[in-house]
Amino acid sequence: MWIDRSDIQGLVVSGYAAQPASAMVEVRFGLEQGAAARQFLRRLLPVVSSASRHERFERCRIQVAFSASGLERLGLPEQTLAGFCPEFLGGMAERARLLGDVGEDSPASWDLGGPGRSIEALVFVYAPDVETREQKLDELGDWLEKSELDYDWTETFLDVAEREHFGFRTGGSAPHYRGLSSWRRKRLPLGELLLGHATADGRRLPSPTAPRPRSTRNLRLRHDGQVDLGRNGTYLVVRKLEQRVEQFWARMHELVRETGGQLGDERALASRLVGRAPDGTPLAGCPAGAHVRRANPGPGLDPAPRTHQLVRRGRLYEQGGERGLLFVALNADIAGQFEFVQRNFVNDPKFAGLRGERDPLLGSDDGAERRITLQGDGLRRRLELPRFVRLRGGGYFFLPSLSALAYLTEAGRGEAG
Ligand code: HEM
Repeated sequence: MWIDRSDIQGLVVSGYAAQPASAMVEVRFGLEQGAAARQFLRRLLPVVSSASRHERFERCRIQVAFSASGLERLGLPEQTLAGFCPEFLGGMAERARLLGDVGEDSPASWDLGGPGRSIEALVFVYAPDVETREQKLDELGDWLEKSELDYDWTETFLDVAEREHFGFRTGGSAPHYRGLSSWRRKRLPLGELLLGHATADGRRLPSPTAPRPRSTRNLRLRHDGQVDLGRNGTYLVVRKLEQRVEQFWARMHELVRETGGQLGDERALASRLVGRAPDGTPLAGCPAGAHVRRANPGPGLDPAPRTHQLVRRGRLYEQGGERGLLFVALNADIAGQFEFVQRNFVNDPKFAGLRGERDPLLGSDDGAERRITLQGDGLRRRLELPRFVRLRGGGYFFLPSLSALAYLTEAGRGEAG
């Protein structure tokens, strides 16, 4: 299968490990600023990295994604907008109840996205070092100011030891896709990640279409004369997750004392919550309710494991005294992938025959008691857990193909320029 990698944004195929200094820039604009936003995008377009192998030596990488309000304000016609999935159009905050984003996680308390804090576009910057990142941010800031667009950013990074803030190795397992990965075994159909391609059950997910443009080539022309604007694009899910690192280790310490060391030391206990040793090694007797088991239960517990995969591109952040994970996941089907995992695995109290438990790292703040059952060596213990992770915000975005991005830079509904 031949895939035009130069039409796909690079984040789809790479976590940009060679660019550990990064940032996520939130761009805001009103309906009346559509032309200004397009002007900014025209500047940005030539520096947005594709998945083409020719670009592998570039020092900095830039990626761009849009919220539904962003696409509307850029002037996409209503019929085109209606072709995006309803979860994206409604936004993450609207899905709060269903996602378990209640209590201290409710959208009203978010500092990223959420009610009254709409984000129209996200620009991701990946740089080899902090200095280069600062230069890129300055340059972007200049362009945004010239177009009179409002912006804000969060600095992010990859830890040198590839650990998240609790101290566990990240980036262990990732799905592989046909046409994108040279991996020979267990490759998933491309339609599980990119719109416009066949999924595991041979379908094509709904994809937005638009009137044929005058000048943009490369967009696939459909039999009805419209172009497929979604093809080679994917949905991007952002969750800003604060990690309470001190509380995490303090509770591990307490539990070791309470259990008289029968379940091992702090690191051994924490490993059972995560489902991996700190260096990433899988655990022999991994608890059924551990984070990695819930996030990707595999055959047996997941009726359709091939369709519930996420491509994770998260980065760490530190802001004032707050530390956390700026979780980013790519998927072709928000309801069937990210939301399915969140609802049916992470937050399901009956997951794997357990009772009244949630993901030990991510479980919802819905008032239910929080615990995990640890089995093994003839022991069975239920441990009470406080919340170690709090949701500080998030949103649903669309990461378009490069040809769709070029389309977005063109004049919108009846406007000039
Ligand atoms: C602060 C929050 C989080 C922490 C500390 C965390 C930590 C980890 C760690 C240490 C791993 C194992 C290494 C790796 O594969 O990267 C992992 C795996 C994974 N996590 Fe998370 N994670 C967090 C949030 C999330 C969220 C929000 C989701 C999705 C709803 C998620 C989904 C996954 C998946 C799918 C895997 C791969 C499991 C596998 O295939 O083995 N994680 N996580």
